[in-house]
Amino acid sequence: PLARTGTLVAEAADKRRAVAAFNIITLEHAEAVIAGAEEAKSPVVLQVSENAVKFRYGRVLPLARAAVAAAEAASVPVALHLDHVKQDELLRQAADAGFSSAMYDAAHLPYEENLAATRAAADWAHTQGLWIEAELGEVGGKDGRAPLDAHAPGARTDPDEARQFVAESGVDALAVAIGSTHAMTSRTAELDHALLGRLDAALRVPLVLHGSSGVPDDALSAAVAGGIAKVNIGTALNIAMTDAIRSYLAANPEAVDARTYLTVGRQAMAATVTRLIGVLDRTV
Ligand code: G3H
Ligand code: ZN
Repeated sequence: PLARTGTLVAEAADKRRAVAAFNIITLEHAEAVIAGAEEAKSPVVLQVSENAVKFRYGRVLPLARAAVAAAEAASVPVALHLDHVKQDELLRQAADAGFSSAMYDAAHLPYEENLAATRAAADWAHTQGLWIEAELGEVGGKDGRAPLDAHAPGARTDPDEARQFVAESGVDALAVAIGSTHAMTSRTAELDHALLGRLDAALRVPLVLHGSSGVPDDALSAAVAGGIAKVNIGTALNIAMTDAIRSYLAANPEAVDARTYLTVGRQAMAATVTRLIGVLDRTV
């Protein structure tokens, strides 16, 4: 059934667990994430980023409505989230389609501007009943830009600044920069678990990890134990899908029916979802 992101994150955080949030680009992604979560018998968040909307000719509703319909038919709770959004209009359309949350991304702006923009977005979102996530300290590697050095001091979230940011913006969750980077195709990110400990102690809201595809299994499990309550995963699904399709087409050069290779792509994504949910559920 369709669930609310805020509820799933709160339930996970209460148990010191995390809910997995997977980025979807196509309907196959949505179906695979749900199949993988059903296999794991676990709730899940489907998220659509503003970049994914750009890929879909700038239209959020076709994928959003399909994802909501898939969530309603699922045997596990599935929530819908708009990810890395900068345009207010998208927020409005997604809320109308049944999304219960959004991540408002103004992390590229200087602190005061990030705060002002985030507070305005959070105020409006709360009037619509939306749960809202923001980011402070920049998790690099967005929009195809070269990743920032994830270990540079400026790319890290400062706990004192974060406490003030959350109090003044009124956001419901905070994405923190602790060493992960978006769009990594190797799982070699080194998380700063000591910084996560300080952030967890400083903040009352659930913490979100972005760029989780590049984080090794052990570090992911440790991050959940350390207070991360929502884990955003995108690239890992695309790696699984593309590798599976590439192998299939190499072995079957005569294939023309899109269902043949989309089936193996979807199966590979679903298996990745089940496996990663298992990593998050592992107690360390
Ligand atoms: O918001 C989306 C995530 O941060 C996904 O990052 O593609 O590096 O796993 P990733
Ligand atoms: Zn992200």
